[in-house]
Amino acid sequence: MGDVRPRVVLGVGAGIAAYKVCELLRRFTEGGADVRVVPTADALRFVGAATWEALSGNPVATGVWEDVPEVPHVRLGKQADLVVVAPATADLLARAAHGLAHDLLTNTLLTARCPIVYAPSMHTEMWEHPATQDNVALLRSRGAIVIDPASGRLTGADTGPGRLPEPAEIHETALRVLRRGTAAADLTGRHVVVSAGGTREALDPVRFLGNRSTGLQGYALARTAVAREAKVTLVAANVALPDPAGARVVDVVSAADMRAAVLEAARDADAVVMAAAVADFRPAHRQDTKIKKTDAKPAPIELVKNPDILAELSAERPRPGQVITGFAAETDDVLANARAKLRRKGCDLLVVNPVGETLAFGTPDNQAVVLAADGETVEIPRGPKEDLADVVWDLVVRRLPAR
Ligand code: CTP
Repeated sequence: MGDVRPRVVLGVGAGIAAYKVCELLRRFTEGGADVRVVPTADALRFVGAATWEALSGNPVATGVWEDVPEVPHVRLGKQADLVVVAPATADLLARAAHGLAHDLLTNTLLTARCPIVYAPSMHTEMWEHPATQDNVALLRSRGAIVIDPASGRLTGADTGPGRLPEPAEIHETALRVLRRGTAAADLTGRHVVVSAGGTREALDPVRFLGNRSTGLQGYALARTAVAREAKVTLVAANVALPDPAGARVVDVVSAADMRAAVLEAARDADAVVMAAAVADFRPAHRQDTKIKKTDAKPAPIELVKNPDILAELSAERPRPGQVITGFAAETDDVLANARAKLRRKGCDLLVVNPVGETLAFGTPDNQAVVLAADGETVEIPRGPKEDLADVVWDLVVRRLPAR
């Protein structure tokens, strides 16, 4: 994070998910950030000031009438490098959208000139209410990053969208925004589809043909797109990673499932990135019962070809001006193979990974060359998969039609 400790204001709203934000705070402080926690007065009913002060190492105030000579309601916001509001309640989003400022947090939101990330959490009805949705749209139109809540178990027995995403995922998004500054939100209002993971082709109820893809690169693409304010649909094939904060995750198993999910999501997408390792072939027959080892000589597995989703999308372009990106893992004659593949598939960008012993599958780092159909070639040196993802989005953004 550099030599200077980034200054983060962590605004805490009055939601039960405040208890999860203790973990988010820990991640910020352990990463070296100087965090000022600014809860609303009601938020202290869920988690008290002592907890925030102990975890942040800084004093906690909720109102504008404490410490008046220091003018904290102006100073905190002006000095911050990043403001994160979690949980952002319906009431807080409303007050932020309309510039109401009766306490320290809402004053800070008005004086901050740095990026602001909201992580909403509330009951599904409140999230889906037109008032909340309009407030979210208003905040986004002004450049704020509002992470869509996750779906799942809420406070009571009910489930639906409204859950606070996992603290680790909010932290990742916040770090991306902190690193990119206010230029972060260049995918605002765009819908992007990312495929991730590796498909499985069933042989029988317990066995499949699969591959070693873990989904790390696709998840990094989804996470970075959320940080750049895109609406993200992540089509995930057999991935054992937590859902990226703010992305809509569609789980699939086989190449056929993936094709259906990607084509459906791509209908109104501005960009599609096919990072998944899709099986080129599937067994011609799937046995309904487990294959037994009764025979001394095993029967050969007959394979049939799967449809090529990337080639199909690139030929059809479900939405005019859609930017389509493919991935290619190559072991030899990397660039020549990749150029031919780019032409064959008909996509706009091809991210070419040289697959070696220590790169690509399951590692946090990646390295690539991106080839564009318009002739541009960009080398991405070895680094975190998130950095590679940001370069891919930079290239996609430059090719999106103006609105
Ligand atoms: N892909 C796809 N549908 C398939 C197979 C692959 O959409 N049935 C996509 C992958 O998501 C990836 C790119 O195509 O973006 C990878 O190309 P791939 O098909 O694996 O390369 P191949 O055509 O298999 O080339 P080769 O096997 O010759 O290396």
